[in-house]
Amino acid sequence: MLAFQTDFFILLKNLKEPNKLVVFDYFTIFADPVTPMDLKHSLDKNNIPKHVAIIMDGNGRWAKQQGEDRIFGHHEGVNSVREVVEACGEIGVKFVTLYAFSTENWNRPKDEVDALMELLVSTISLETPNLNKKGVKLEVIGDIKSLPNSCQAELQESISITSSNTTVTLILALSYSSKWEITSAVKEIAQHVKEGTLSPEDITGKHIEKYLNTSKWPDPELMIRTSGEHRISNFLLWQLAYAEFYFTDTLWPDFRKQEFFKAILAYQNRERRFGQTSEQISQN
Ligand code: FPP
Repeated sequence: MLAFQTDFFILLKNLKEPNKLVVFDYFTIFADPVTPMDLKHSLDKNNIPKHVAIIMDGNGRWAKQQGEDRIFGHHEGVNSVREVVEACGEIGVKFVTLYAFSTENWNRPKDEVDALMELLVSTISLETPNLNKKGVKLEVIGDIKSLPNSCQAELQESISITSSNTTVTLILALSYSSKWEITSAVKEIAQHVKEGTLSPEDITGKHIEKYLNTSKWPDPELMIRTSGEHRISNFLLWQLAYAEFYFTDTLWPDFRKQEFFKAILAYQNRERRFGQTSEQISQN
């Protein structure tokens, strides 16, 4: 086997089959064998995103690969949630928003929806002491009233128990979609205009943000989606206007600390220009 290294890729040439070149990205070869601790230490502490948003995708495919039911993948996905939230605390990400159940997910088979709701209730109940121990504050966004009562009660309890924690804020997007959120905001604004308490000329972007579910937090600088899908799927459409997107083929149950740190490293190698030129950015 011969190896050729380019800037980001390694080409492996099998000498027995010289026409076949296998391409690996740099991290697959060199980052995987190191421990999460090692990769964590190569991060620039002064350039950690404050807020990371994640579309956790690929639980069903992961389960299928193991010859199991889809719900087995969701159960395993909880372990990734735990590791990623822990990783946020370790490197100083202050807010992490997880797309745990979208408005569109209600259209899944009833068995899967029921199992997901049960998993949510049992996970919140089991994990709350751990969240507290790690200084994690729980918050939710979405049409929470559409969730089963048991789920709403468990969430409310955990939100109240963890409310004074300050290390990381874990925001679960549940029964959430961006179009639902923006539509609700527009309705509220229209009501204020109708009542004469708001004039249309006073409506600015900052004003609209106050009506979104996320008004308390800064916008995410980084959005991660697992499982090789390259879509935004009705997630934080307004809030991700200037976010960097990181897509990985890794399925969510395999997305652990190591994978998270890789995503942060990739973010740190991006140049964020906010519509300006590179020259303007380097002069600032
Ligand atoms: C997408 O994978 C995943 C979901 C719709 C649910 C995510 C839920 C969890 C990770 C567990 C519960 C989370 C918390 C926070 C307690 P998919 O089912 O669409 O996978 P597929 O694309 O391979 O079918």
